[in-house]
Amino acid sequence: MKVLTRVYEVKQNIRPIKQKGIKIAFVPTMGALHQGHIELLKQARFYAHFVVLSIFVNPTQFGGNEDYDKYPRDLDNDILTIKKNNIPVDCVFAPSVQEMYPFLEIPQLTLPFLSQKLCGLSRPTHFDGVGLVVLKLLNIVQPDFLIMGQKDYQQTVIIQRLIDEFFIDTQLITIPTVRESDGLALSSRNIYLNAEERENALILYKTLNSIQKELKIGMNALQIQSLLKKYRETFAQNGFVKLDYLEILDAYNLVPIQEIQRGSKILIAIAAYIGKTRLIDNMVLEI
Ligand code: PAJ
Repeated sequence: MKVLTRVYEVKQNIRPIKQKGIKIAFVPTMGALHQGHIELLKQARFYAHFVVLSIFVNPTQFGGNEDYDKYPRDLDNDILTIKKNNIPVDCVFAPSVQEMYPFLEIPQLTLPFLSQKLCGLSRPTHFDGVGLVVLKLLNIVQPDFLIMGQKDYQQTVIIQRLIDEFFIDTQLITIPTVRESDGLALSSRNIYLNAEERENALILYKTLNSIQKELKIGMNALQIQSLLKKYRETFAQNGFVKLDYLEILDAYNLVPIQEIQRGSKILIAIAAYIGKTRLIDNMVLEI
């Protein structure tokens, strides 16, 4: 496994692989690898013989008041995790900020409709930064398959749009969310939670499950809104957690649902602050 930090090195390594016709799968991450990331890497190997992992805490996707500085970074430990567990990775790309953003002026890439809802409401520039860095990474790695997690569902919708908009030759594969045994979605931010907050964090998954059970074919927009109201009020009564959003949307394009019909693909999405830590989770139902 090679660990590379320069764009030209990655391109040099990728070129002969592509020339031989070997398929490449790419897993972009910000490091602090956990079982969720590892599952993506394992799945990547099913799709391609050559697996590239990027580890880069991307500054442009963090808002000024967010946790960019304190985001967990430990490249040596991530590499150890990969080696110790025999995770199938052929090349790690861990660039510096200077390498990824060589010019003082940083371009803007905005998808207002998809980026300004759900997580975009409280993180208005987040997805612009995600789109920008993923576009750069895709140009460097040129993978046949891009492997991402359903945990960040809105991110996958935006990246799919980017792939279509810029005619990028890659297939996005979305992998189901990996959870702790009690249901909490794995996240690099879970390490911020103390024992009591860890307990409270379960409310995200529990809420998704309860709502899932109440959704029925034929429900209209009004009925969906009153269901959401009921669950939002439950949050308002819990002093330990603060709801950021709870929405039920069309999973293809993130618009509100007029009626749940057979064939609908529905996204239940939630974000909440557990103490100071903001966690997200979702469920996608194919009716
Ligand atoms: P990061 O949060 O490190 O996540 C990297 C990938 O791992 C994403 O595709 C994310 O959806 C996936 N992932 C995280 N937790 C998961 C879980 N519990 N189960 C399954 N997959 C999970 O997402 C980012 O980094 C960045 O925005 C990035 C795309 C790398 C751009 O900077």
